Amino acid sequence: MRHKDLGNTCVLGLQWGDEGKGKVVDLLVEHFDVVARYAGGANAGHTVVIDSDRFALHQVPSGVLREGVMNIIASGAVIDPAALLGEIESLRQRGVRLDGDNLRISDRAHLVFPWHRREDVIAEGAARAGDKIGTTARGIGPCYADKAGRRWGIRVCELCRPAGLRERILATCAYKNALFRAVYECRETFDANAITAEYLAFGEQLRPFMCDATAVLNGLIRQGKRVLFEGAQGALLDVDHGTYPFVTSSSTTNFAAGAGVPASAANSILGVAKAYTTRVGRGPFPTEQAGEVGDIIRERGGEYGTTTGRPRRCGWFDAVATAYAARVCGPTHLAIMHLDTLSGMRELRVCVGYRIGKKIVNDFPADVYSLEEAEPVYETLPGWSGEIGDCREFSKLPDEVRRYVEFISARLETPVRIISVGPARDQTIILEDN
Ligand code: GDP
Ligand code: IMO
Ligand code: MG
Repeated sequence: MRHKDLGNTCVLGLQWGDEGKGKVVDLLVEHFDVVARYAGGANAGHTVVIDSDRFALHQVPSGVLREGVMNIIASGAVIDPAALLGEIESLRQRGVRLDGDNLRISDRAHLVFPWHRREDVIAEGAARAGDKIGTTARGIGPCYADKAGRRWGIRVCELCRPAGLRERILATCAYKNALFRAVYECRETFDANAITAEYLAFGEQLRPFMCDATAVLNGLIRQGKRVLFEGAQGALLDVDHGTYPFVTSSSTTNFAAGAGVPASAANSILGVAKAYTTRVGRGPFPTEQAGEVGDIIRERGGEYGTTTGRPRRCGWFDAVATAYAARVCGPTHLAIMHLDTLSGMRELRVCVGYRIGKKIVNDFPADVYSLEEAEPVYETLPGWSGEIGDCREFSKLPDEVRRYVEFISARLETPVRIISVGPARDQTIILEDN
């Protein structure tokens, strides 16, 4: 079945983020009318490469680079207005049209405030080495914590009620100032008047984009418009299902909850995975290769964070972790990215089990202590030597590449729809029959 016939699709990451979701969304969006980001915030960095132009999108959905596509930041995302307005401005300077006709933000989304960003940085700084999460310092955790806590969370819709907003910011500042003084011994305080004025001005600038995202999205679906749900981060960073506490603070796997649509709204789920594994920030990573193999992957794959520039930790494909992610997300198809990065390796390893203590397990354990202890059990597959970035047909790929892709597909019990052999749009092989 051709991709345009697959119906509404959710694109999400099956590893620890940075799988190449931005490339996949940009690639598929010609068949869609709407792209909806349903979780995360400025912690995301989705790269789209068009000819010699490279765009790093953070809060803005990856459909903005195609004309005629409606992009929605849905209620499950958190919005940092200063960063979002900066992102909109820099995209406009590069010739991207952005207005209320192609970008909408949910009035139910929670807002990131300066105290969230500061707490993110201070709490990480104060944590003992083993307890640091290695966040992106964008205030994501504290913002979602205030949302779940219900007392201090402030949403986009409140930007349109000046008197109410002033009162809420005044009360929140008083609480946050006391908290920062008592817990973190901060002398610097948040100025409620200045922050209110700043956020009211953000509200004015964001007003043309605000909407009831569930009404807009469900209305478009009813009209028969095709929707692509764009995940951020990856399943192993999901707050419920990931390697807690080394996760982000949102539900990365549940597009319906974040977008405000019924779960039946997506007909297909495209799970994106790299042909190896990467992780930024701290947390267990059983197949990590700290030595030469990791360095080769990092340099060949350009594995440096899109948001923070941090070098990514790199290692072999972990079929135990990714199969677990696939169980949680239920992908109908896979996109396997970065196969070109593995060219030149004599052999490739894929983790198919963990040795934990005296036992060999094939399931992904819940507790990070077991994962830290887990020794991967590998299967070794032959590598390939030639560059494959110019290949556009599955049958023309070296046998070893095809065998590697088929091996992953079998382990995840999911057909492969997309094979990516480079960052550009056209460096892609689409298997329409899968
Ligand atoms: P995302 O967060 O999932 O959208 O992924 P990122 O944009 O953070 O990281 C993926 C990186 O890999 C970006 O620099 C992409 O341009 C690049 N990329 C995507 N697919 C491929 C591929 O198949 N081969 C190579 N070499 N680079 C790729
Ligand atoms: P995209 O959408 C990779 C990681 C951080 C850290 C942990 C918590 O580009 O795939 P946070 O700032 O969210 O509190 O950080 O999650 N992280 C990501 N890693 N890709 C991302 O997004 C990430 N967003 C957060 O490095 O380990
Ligand atoms: Mg990224």
